[in-house]
Amino acid sequence: MLEKNIENGKAMTIKLDAQLPEYPEFEEGIRRAPNRGWTLNKKETELALKNALRYVPEELHEKLAPEFMEELRTMGRIYAYRYRPRGRLFGKPVHEYKGKCLAGKAFQVMIDNNLDFEVALYPYELVTYGETGQVCQNWLQYRLIKKYLEELTEDTTLVLESGHPVGLFKSRPEAPRVILTNGLLVGLFDNQEEWHRAMQLGVSNYGQMTAGGWMYIGPQGIVHGTFNTLLNAARQQLDVGPKGNLAGILFISSGLGGMSGAQAKAVEIAGGVGIIAEVDQSRIETRHSQGWVSKIAESCEEAFSMAKDAMKKKEPMSIAYHGNIVDLLQYAVDMGEEVPLLSDQTSCHAAYDGGYCPVGITFEERTRMLKENPKEFRRLVDESLRKHFELIKTLVDRGTYFFDYGNSFMRAVFDAGVTEIAKNGKDTHEGFIWPSYVEDIMGPVLFDYGYGPFRWVCLSGDPQDLRKTDKAAMECIDQNRRAQDYDNWVWIRDAEKNNLVVGTQARILYQDAEGRLKIALKFNEMVRNGEIGPVMMGRDHHDTGGTDSPYRETSNIKDGSNICADMATQCFAGNAARGMTLCALHNGGGVGIGKAINGGFGMLLDGSERTDEILRTAMMWDALGGVARRAWARCENAEEVSREINSKYPGDYHITLPYVPDEDLVSKTVAEAWEKK
Ligand SMILES: NC(=O)c1ccc[n+]([C@@H]2O[C@H](COP(=O)([O-])OP(=O)(O)OC[C@H]3O[C@@H](n4cnc5c(N)ncnc54)[C@H](O)[C@@H]3O)[C@@H](O)[C@H]2O)c1
Repeated sequence: MLEKNIENGKAMTIKLDAQLPEYPEFEEGIRRAPNRGWTLNKKETELALKNALRYVPEELHEKLAPEFMEELRTMGRIYAYRYRPRGRLFGKPVHEYKGKCLAGKAFQVMIDNNLDFEVALYPYELVTYGETGQVCQNWLQYRLIKKYLEELTEDTTLVLESGHPVGLFKSRPEAPRVILTNGLLVGLFDNQEEWHRAMQLGVSNYGQMTAGGWMYIGPQGIVHGTFNTLLNAARQQLDVGPKGNLAGILFISSGLGGMSGAQAKAVEIAGGVGIIAEVDQSRIETRHSQGWVSKIAESCEEAFSMAKDAMKKKEPMSIAYHGNIVDLLQYAVDMGEEVPLLSDQTSCHAAYDGGYCPVGITFEERTRMLKENPKEFRRLVDESLRKHFELIKTLVDRGTYFFDYGNSFMRAVFDAGVTEIAKNGKDTHEGFIWPSYVEDIMGPVLFDYGYGPFRWVCLSGDPQDLRKTDKAAMECIDQNRRAQDYDNWVWIRDAEKNNLVVGTQARILYQDAEGRLKIALKFNEMVRNGEIGPVMMGRDHHDTGGTDSPYRETSNIKDGSNICADMATQCFAGNAARGMTLCALHNGGGVGIGKAINGGFGMLLDGSERTDEILRTAMMWDALGGVARRAWARCENAEEVSREINSKYPGDYHITLPYVPDEDLVSKTVAEAWEKK
């Protein structure tokens, strides 16, 4: 045995044991990730193996080396399956976890929830959602993170880099307990190919948003945003009135996966009728058994006939069509079906990694082809996306309102060779010909005001706690302030009835900066008074201030700064400075490596006065940083909010506002200079 290994082992008290865990049995019926493709050369493969083995004592290397090699060869990466604890993982009540501080235990609840068979997309591969979004890279890291969380104290901070626990470092009680980053790459290497190499080497993790940020709450996390998007799409485009819903209106989309699974539920809550195409039968069954989709149709004809019946009666109904979205749209075009609202939520951010199933092949063929012939798979994806584009174009010409749903669909179509989808017909600098849901709807109606997907998890696991927090949150909302407040009030009023919980006792509720603060302080007081157990508060990264993503969250930023990642980075740093319990920053969340920088937070409500103090500064900053940036980019609603904030909180907040020049003056000045060019 190498002397250095003995010394290193002795120098660590937090480490993996020298005992080999038993190889786990894989339960039947649990979805498994496809082979991601082993593309490393021989030298790099040796490096990947060495990288994985550095987590375990040398005496285990001989046994583990061939096992890890086999995983890399057959799965395209090393998951270290042997280190997965046996059976189902799930977010247990917080007091059942070991730890030296509440935060250490609380994050174990959050991690285990992200890996629950009922919550995660590919639980054995640590993928929570979005085809490739992982909690951490492998089970070695999982085990080590848990050991660190058990040792975490209020005087230390745990640092994680792409799932790797770098260590515990002395800090102070008011500092974050966990700071983590995922998938960040140096600009020159910031692309999918380099990341794919780094991922195989075991040095980079794609955390999506709340997968690697440990804040996933199942499809509920997105359903409120989807509900808001659908309501406002109908209000803007279909003349249903300012408080109208989708009664009698058809919405077509695709995907019943991790996040996309929210579409069916949201369309029903919004009173409409939805047909959602899904190629994977198992996902349809999961959503159906969870009550997230009501009906299943095996043919396009059956799907449309059910939908028309429900529309006639103005009955809310969601229908899963088992098949490819391209086939469904082809049918709609051929039969002249009317499709007022249309979108897509396949995992186009990772189209060639299996996120988009090409038309003409089954889901099972797609999985086999990914492994056996990735080149041909790529060709089929491109061909299918081009066809998909043509069908949408025909429907749009006939009056359909199509919007990109933040899954990089239009970018994927562009990458498939359709330059026509770019606004300027050549590159994506000016965006695309169709709106992204943020550009038209969420940006101006929600993010510019600071409304975003605020959420909480009742760590006791007691549904009574969730009920009490729902009620308290509802009492904090003034339903007469803005239309958005009314929608949010209705949402929380009906939340329990809509049966949204999958996994931990969690709730999503869109709120603006002041609303988030008010509710957080109220909950912390309830914890202090012993009315409820501790609560983990957080948000999706898909929010006002936490994400720079030109095709999505920041697609309605029109001053040219949508390619900049300063806001998300500032948001992360500001949250850390103010003492949020967990601060996360990732590359690519939601749209893919190199296409976004996004961050989130976790804030533990333990009932203390100290937590009140952190909340008072951090909750407002987290949303207002985004409002300020949006105001500077001349987003009118953000300017309105910023003016209000400046006058309401003198001395505490002051946001720089733009002077807007006369359009004629600008064009005249430029035209004159242009002549001399
Ligand atoms: N709009 C938002 O707020 C938002 C939020 C989170 C994620 N997203 C994005 O939405 C996408 C989906 O996320 P997810 O978590 O649901 O991913 P997912 O991979 O869990 O689900 C996508 C589903 O689409 C299905 N599918 C793929 N190709 C298909 C086809 N041609 N026809 C029919 N079904 C097909 C897959 O079988 C899968 O079930 C991702 O790109 C994600 O980044 C958007």
